[in-house]
Amino acid sequence: MNHVTRELDRIHQEGEKIMKRRMGKEKNGEWNKLILERINQNERLFSKEESKVMSHHNKLIQKMYILGLTDNLGITKCLEKNKFHDIIGKTKGEINKMPNREQAIELLKKYNQEEFHLRHALTVEAVMKYFAKENGEDEEFWGLVGLLHDVDFEKYPEKHCQKAPELLQEIGANEDMIHAICSHGYGICSNLKPEKQMEKILFATDELTGLIWAAAKMRPSQSTKDMEVSSLKKKFKDKKFAAGCSRDTIKQGAEMLGWELSELLEKTILAMREAEDLVEKEMEEIK
Ligand SMILES: [Fe+2]
Repeated sequence: MNHVTRELDRIHQEGEKIMKRRMGKEKNGEWNKLILERINQNERLFSKEESKVMSHHNKLIQKMYILGLTDNLGITKCLEKNKFHDIIGKTKGEINKMPNREQAIELLKKYNQEEFHLRHALTVEAVMKYFAKENGEDEEFWGLVGLLHDVDFEKYPEKHCQKAPELLQEIGANEDMIHAICSHGYGICSNLKPEKQMEKILFATDELTGLIWAAAKMRPSQSTKDMEVSSLKKKFKDKKFAAGCSRDTIKQGAEMLGWELSELLEKTILAMREAEDLVEKEMEEIK
Protein backbone atom coordinates (compact mmCIF):
# COMPACT_ATOMS: atom_id res chain seq x y z
CA MET A 1 0.00 0.00 0.00
CA ASN A 2 1.59 3.28 -1.00
CA HIS A 3 1.56 6.54 0.89
CA VAL A 4 -1.31 7.98 -1.14
CA THR A 5 -3.65 5.07 -0.67
CA ARG A 6 -2.80 5.01 3.04
CA GLU A 7 -3.61 8.70 3.36
CA LEU A 8 -7.00 8.31 1.66
CA ASP A 9 -7.65 5.21 3.68
CA ARG A 10 -7.04 7.22 6.81
CA ILE A 11 -9.53 9.90 5.67
CA HIS A 12 -12.12 7.20 5.02
CA GLN A 13 -11.54 5.60 8.37
CA GLU A 14 -11.95 8.93 10.13
CA GLY A 15 -15.20 9.51 8.26
CA GLU A 16 -16.43 6.07 9.24
CA LYS A 17 -15.46 6.62 12.86
CA ILE A 18 -17.50 9.81 12.99
CA MET A 19 -20.47 8.01 11.47
CA LYS A 20 -20.20 5.05 13.77
CA ARG A 21 -19.86 7.27 16.81
CA ARG A 22 -23.02 9.15 15.80
CA MET A 23 -24.90 5.94 15.23
CA GLY A 24 -23.66 4.37 18.45
CA LYS A 25 -22.94 1.15 16.55
CA GLU A 26 -19.57 -0.35 15.90
CA LYS A 27 -20.58 -3.09 13.52
CA ASN A 28 -20.02 -2.44 9.86
CA GLY A 29 -23.13 -2.29 7.77
CA GLU A 30 -25.50 -1.49 10.63
CA TRP A 31 -25.09 2.22 10.35
CA ASN A 32 -26.34 2.23 6.79
CA LYS A 33 -29.68 1.08 8.12
CA LEU A 34 -29.57 3.59 10.92
CA ILE A 35 -28.77 6.45 8.56
CA LEU A 36 -31.94 5.68 6.63
CA GLU A 37 -33.96 5.52 9.85
CA ARG A 38 -32.61 8.86 11.01
CA ILE A 39 -33.25 10.44 7.61
CA ASN A 40 -36.81 9.11 7.68
CA GLN A 41 -37.29 10.54 11.15
CA ASN A 42 -35.75 13.83 10.10
CA GLU A 43 -33.06 13.57 12.75
CA ARG A 44 -29.71 15.24 12.43
CA LEU A 45 -27.02 12.74 11.51
CA PHE A 46 -24.02 14.76 12.50
CA SER A 47 -23.20 17.72 14.68
CA LYS A 48 -22.65 20.93 12.73
CA GLU A 49 -18.89 20.56 13.05
CA GLU A 50 -18.95 16.94 11.91
CA SER A 51 -21.20 17.81 8.99
CA LYS A 52 -18.63 20.35 7.85
CA VAL A 53 -15.86 17.73 7.91
CA MET A 54 -17.99 15.15 6.14
CA SER A 55 -19.30 17.47 3.49
CA HIS A 56 -15.88 18.84 2.71
CA HIS A 57 -14.44 15.37 2.58
CA ASN A 58 -17.21 14.14 0.28
CA LYS A 59 -16.79 17.11 -2.03
CA LEU A 60 -13.07 16.47 -2.15
CA ILE A 61 -13.54 12.86 -3.12
CA GLN A 62 -16.19 13.76 -5.70
CA LYS A 63 -13.96 16.38 -7.26
CA MET A 64 -10.97 14.05 -7.34
CA TYR A 65 -13.17 11.54 -9.12
CA ILE A 66 -14.29 14.13 -11.66
CA LEU A 67 -10.68 15.11 -12.24
CA GLY A 68 -9.88 11.46 -12.86
CA LEU A 69 -7.66 11.22 -9.83
CA THR A 70 -9.64 8.54 -8.02
CA ASP A 71 -12.12 5.85 -8.83
CA ASN A 72 -15.67 6.29 -7.56
CA LEU A 73 -14.74 4.89 -4.14
CA GLY A 74 -12.08 7.49 -3.71
CA ILE A 75 -9.19 5.15 -4.31
CA THR A 76 -6.35 7.19 -5.70
CA LYS A 77 -5.00 6.17 -9.03
CA CYS A 78 -1.25 5.70 -9.37
CA LEU A 79 -0.04 8.92 -7.82
CA GLU A 80 3.52 9.47 -6.86
CA LYS A 81 3.60 9.66 -3.12
CA ASN A 82 5.04 13.15 -2.76
CA LYS A 83 2.43 14.56 -5.16
CA PHE A 84 -0.43 13.68 -2.82
CA HIS A 85 -0.49 16.93 -0.86
CA ASP A 86 -0.16 18.99 -4.04
CA ILE A 87 -3.13 17.21 -5.52
CA ILE A 88 -5.19 17.61 -2.37
CA GLY A 89 -4.28 21.30 -2.30
CA LYS A 90 -5.23 21.79 -5.95
CA THR A 91 -8.44 19.85 -5.51
CA LYS A 92 -9.42 21.92 -2.49
CA GLY A 93 -8.62 24.99 -4.57
CA GLU A 94 -10.94 23.73 -7.31
CA ILE A 95 -13.74 23.14 -4.82
CA ASN A 96 -13.36 26.50 -3.16
CA LYS A 97 -12.67 28.30 -6.40
CA MET A 98 -13.66 31.88 -6.31
CA PRO A 99 -13.71 34.34 -9.18
CA ASN A 100 -11.34 37.27 -8.85
CA ARG A 101 -12.54 40.86 -8.73
CA GLU A 102 -11.70 41.64 -12.36
CA GLN A 103 -13.86 38.73 -13.49
CA ALA A 104 -16.63 39.88 -11.17
CA ILE A 105 -16.48 43.46 -12.52
CA GLU A 106 -16.54 42.16 -16.10
CA LEU A 107 -19.62 40.07 -15.35
CA LEU A 108 -21.29 42.98 -13.57
CA LYS A 109 -20.69 45.27 -16.56
CA LYS A 110 -21.82 42.65 -19.02
CA TYR A 111 -25.28 42.56 -17.46
CA ASN A 112 -25.50 46.07 -15.96
CA GLN A 113 -25.14 49.42 -17.67
CA GLU A 114 -27.28 51.78 -15.61
CA GLU A 115 -25.27 54.06 -13.39
CA PHE A 116 -27.63 53.52 -10.47
CA HIS A 117 -27.15 49.75 -10.56
CA LEU A 118 -23.37 49.98 -10.88
CA ARG A 119 -23.18 52.40 -7.98
CA HIS A 120 -25.44 50.18 -5.88
CA ALA A 121 -23.23 47.14 -6.63
CA LEU A 122 -20.03 49.00 -5.66
CA THR A 123 -21.67 50.41 -2.55
CA VAL A 124 -22.94 47.05 -1.32
CA GLU A 125 -19.54 45.54 -2.07
CA ALA A 126 -17.82 48.15 0.11
CA VAL A 127 -20.43 47.79 2.86
CA MET A 128 -20.01 44.00 2.90
CA LYS A 129 -16.25 44.37 3.10
CA TYR A 130 -16.66 46.74 6.04
CA PHE A 131 -18.82 44.21 7.90
CA ALA A 132 -16.45 41.34 7.01
CA LYS A 133 -13.59 43.30 8.55
CA GLU A 134 -15.67 44.05 11.63
CA ASN A 135 -16.50 40.35 12.00
CA GLY A 136 -12.97 39.13 11.27
CA GLU A 137 -14.25 37.36 8.13
CA ASP A 138 -13.08 37.00 4.53
CA GLU A 139 -13.33 40.53 3.10
CA GLU A 140 -12.68 39.40 -0.46
CA PHE A 141 -15.49 36.86 -0.43
CA TRP A 142 -18.03 39.10 1.31
CA GLY A 143 -17.09 41.90 -1.11
CA LEU A 144 -17.64 39.77 -4.20
CA VAL A 145 -21.02 38.65 -2.91
CA GLY A 146 -21.98 42.29 -2.39
CA LEU A 147 -20.68 43.31 -5.81
CA LEU A 148 -22.63 40.64 -7.67
CA HIS A 149 -25.75 40.29 -5.53
CA ASP A 150 -28.00 42.03 -8.09
CA VAL A 151 -26.14 40.86 -11.19
CA ASP A 152 -29.32 39.59 -12.87
CA PHE A 153 -31.64 42.42 -11.83
CA GLU A 154 -31.17 44.94 -14.65
CA LYS A 155 -31.62 42.51 -17.53
CA TYR A 156 -33.92 39.96 -15.88
CA PRO A 157 -36.00 41.83 -13.28
CA GLU A 158 -38.75 39.21 -13.52
CA LYS A 159 -36.26 36.45 -12.85
CA HIS A 160 -34.26 38.18 -10.12
CA CYS A 161 -32.30 35.64 -8.03
CA GLN A 162 -33.49 32.86 -10.38
CA LYS A 163 -31.31 33.80 -13.33
CA ALA A 164 -28.31 34.69 -11.14
CA PRO A 165 -26.89 31.13 -10.70
CA GLU A 166 -26.58 30.74 -14.48
CA LEU A 167 -24.84 34.10 -14.89
CA LEU A 168 -22.56 33.47 -11.92
CA GLN A 169 -21.49 30.15 -13.33
CA GLU A 170 -19.94 32.02 -16.24
CA ILE A 171 -17.14 33.03 -13.88
CA GLY A 172 -17.10 29.77 -11.92
CA ALA A 173 -18.74 31.09 -8.75
CA ASN A 174 -18.90 28.37 -6.10
CA GLU A 175 -22.00 27.13 -4.29
CA ASP A 176 -21.42 29.29 -1.22
CA MET A 177 -21.34 32.41 -3.35
CA ILE A 178 -24.45 31.46 -5.30
CA HIS A 179 -26.38 30.64 -2.11
CA ALA A 180 -25.33 33.89 -0.46
CA ILE A 181 -26.37 35.93 -3.49
CA CYS A 182 -29.69 34.21 -4.09
CA SER A 183 -30.73 34.23 -0.44
CA HIS A 184 -30.82 38.04 -0.39
CA GLY A 185 -34.15 37.79 -2.21
CA TYR A 186 -35.65 35.55 0.46
CA GLY A 187 -39.40 35.87 0.71
CA ILE A 188 -39.52 38.11 -2.39
CA CYS A 189 -37.99 36.27 -5.32
CA SER A 190 -36.14 33.38 -3.67
CA ASN A 191 -36.92 30.52 -1.31
CA LEU A 192 -33.35 30.36 -0.06
CA LYS A 193 -33.15 31.60 3.50
CA PRO A 194 -30.20 33.68 4.67
CA GLU A 195 -28.40 31.27 7.02
CA LYS A 196 -24.92 32.65 7.56
CA GLN A 197 -24.15 35.95 9.27
CA MET A 198 -22.90 37.30 5.94
CA GLU A 199 -26.16 36.39 4.20
CA LYS A 200 -28.20 38.05 6.93
CA ILE A 201 -26.07 41.20 6.73
CA LEU A 202 -26.54 41.34 2.95
CA PHE A 203 -30.29 40.87 3.36
CA ALA A 204 -30.47 43.61 6.02
CA THR A 205 -28.26 46.21 4.33
CA ASP A 206 -29.24 45.86 0.65
CA GLU A 207 -32.38 48.02 0.79
CA LEU A 208 -30.95 50.12 3.56
CA THR A 209 -27.98 51.30 1.51
CA GLY A 210 -30.50 52.59 -1.06
CA LEU A 211 -32.37 54.49 1.63
CA ILE A 212 -29.16 55.97 3.07
CA TRP A 213 -27.95 57.01 -0.37
CA ALA A 214 -31.27 58.71 -1.14
CA ALA A 215 -31.17 60.45 2.25
CA ALA A 216 -27.58 61.60 1.66
CA LYS A 217 -28.58 63.20 -1.65
CA MET A 218 -31.10 65.37 0.23
CA ARG A 219 -28.43 66.82 2.50
CA PRO A 220 -26.56 70.08 1.73
CA SER A 221 -23.32 68.09 1.87
CA GLN A 222 -24.78 65.40 -0.43
CA SER A 223 -22.84 63.02 1.76
CA THR A 224 -23.18 60.36 4.47
CA LYS A 225 -20.22 61.84 6.28
CA ASP A 226 -22.28 64.23 8.39
CA MET A 227 -25.43 62.08 8.55
CA GLU A 228 -26.81 61.34 12.01
CA VAL A 229 -28.78 58.22 12.90
CA SER A 230 -31.62 60.44 14.16
CA SER A 231 -32.09 62.08 10.75
CA LEU A 232 -31.99 58.69 9.02
CA LYS A 233 -34.62 57.42 11.44
CA LYS A 234 -36.93 60.25 10.35
CA LYS A 235 -36.45 59.28 6.71
CA PHE A 236 -37.05 55.66 7.64
CA LYS A 237 -40.39 56.55 9.24
CA ASP A 238 -41.43 58.78 6.34
CA LYS A 239 -43.06 56.19 4.10
CA LYS A 240 -43.24 58.58 1.16
CA PHE A 241 -39.49 59.12 1.13
CA ALA A 242 -37.64 56.63 -1.13
CA ALA A 243 -40.79 54.53 -1.12
CA GLY A 244 -39.08 51.81 -3.17
CA CYS A 245 -36.83 50.88 -0.24
CA SER A 246 -38.77 48.32 1.74
CA ARG A 247 -38.82 49.22 5.43
CA ASP A 248 -40.24 45.77 6.21
CA THR A 249 -37.27 44.01 4.62
CA ILE A 250 -34.86 46.21 6.57
CA LYS A 251 -36.72 45.47 9.83
CA GLN A 252 -36.81 41.76 9.00
CA GLY A 253 -33.04 41.86 8.37
CA ALA A 254 -32.38 43.49 11.75
CA GLU A 255 -34.51 40.81 13.40
CA MET A 256 -32.61 38.02 11.63
CA LEU A 257 -29.38 39.47 12.96
CA GLY A 258 -30.81 39.98 16.43
CA TRP A 259 -29.90 43.67 16.19
CA GLU A 260 -31.97 46.68 17.20
CA LEU A 261 -33.04 48.68 14.15
CA SER A 262 -31.00 51.67 15.35
CA GLU A 263 -27.90 49.48 15.62
CA LEU A 264 -28.34 48.37 12.00
CA LEU A 265 -28.88 51.95 10.84
CA GLU A 266 -25.85 53.21 12.71
CA LYS A 267 -23.50 50.48 11.54
CA THR A 268 -24.61 50.82 7.94
CA ILE A 269 -24.14 54.62 8.00
CA LEU A 270 -20.60 54.04 9.31
CA ALA A 271 -19.95 51.47 6.58
CA MET A 272 -21.22 53.79 3.85
CA ARG A 273 -19.31 56.74 5.28
CA GLU A 274 -16.09 54.77 5.02
CA ALA A 275 -16.95 53.58 1.50
CA GLU A 276 -18.14 56.87 0.05
CA ASP A 277 -14.92 58.26 -1.45
CA LEU A 278 -13.83 54.88 -2.75
CA VAL A 279 -17.17 54.28 -4.48
CA GLU A 280 -16.98 57.71 -6.13
CA LYS A 281 -13.51 56.93 -7.42
CA GLU A 282 -14.54 53.49 -8.64
CA MET A 283 -17.58 54.92 -10.41
CA GLU A 284 -15.23 57.06 -12.49
CA GLU A 285 -13.13 54.03 -13.35
CA ILE A 286 -15.95 51.64 -14.11
CA LYS A 287 -17.78 53.84 -16.65
FE1 LIG B 1 -29.48 45.09 -4.09
